[in-house]
Amino acid sequence: MKEPRRIAVGVTGASGVIYAARTIAALAAAGCRLEVVFSDYGRRLLLDELGPDAKVERLVDLLAARYGDEVRQGVLTMHSNKDLGAPLASGSHRCDAMVIVPCSMKTLAGVAHGLSRSLIERAADVMLKERRRLVLVPRETPMSLPALRNLVAAAEAGAMILPAMPAFYQQPKTIDDLADFIAGKILNALGFEQKLFAPWKDE
Ligand SMILES: Cc1cc2nc3c(=O)[nH]c(=O)nc-3n(C[C@H](O)[C@H](O)[C@H](O)COP(=O)(O)O)c2cc1C
Repeated sequence: MKEPRRIAVGVTGASGVIYAARTIAALAAAGCRLEVVFSDYGRRLLLDELGPDAKVERLVDLLAARYGDEVRQGVLTMHSNKDLGAPLASGSHRCDAMVIVPCSMKTLAGVAHGLSRSLIERAADVMLKERRRLVLVPRETPMSLPALRNLVAAAEAGAMILPAMPAFYQQPKTIDDLADFIAGKILNALGFEQKLFAPWKDE
């Protein structure tokens, strides 16, 4: 039997934690082994944007209630962002790919400059040095020149920049439709089939 794919997900303190929730739920429903790390501000935005019950410690229940029990098909391991001794911090640990969603400008700066100040930044650096897929989902507007330069530096180092910019050609009706679009793009970028939004057809 094929081994389930192991994917790291970093969630930082940019607006748009719903993109993280939808992405984690879809990867879990696809049967992935997920290694999830929230920054302190990622935790705060989870509460601010998804409500007082949205606690990291109850993430699987929260996602199951929101997106269905298929999310329980995945295995989700939560790591502290302070734990630089976690397996994710080492290139010898088998982790196929990583997404940071949403990615704050602060964490973007840390990744672009290889600072490895936290587990999220270190795991991203491991992805780059091991030439594995790293997807960054920045959310900020407008963007400063340092942030724009950091996006270029991260892209030059091998990261895929997938801005949290939902499209409107699929005629979204709800916030969930917008989140589905970005999560679907992330799944594609990580090499998964996705059914969260229908591909564009010119008809
Ligand atoms: C309500 C709220 C919304 C924020 N939204 C953004 C954002 O969209 N983009 C961003 O880069 N930072 C945003 N920030 C600032 C980051 O949370 C802050 O820079 C933090 O230090 C990021 O740390 P982290 O990358 O370790 O999560 C926001 C902060 C708060 C409190």
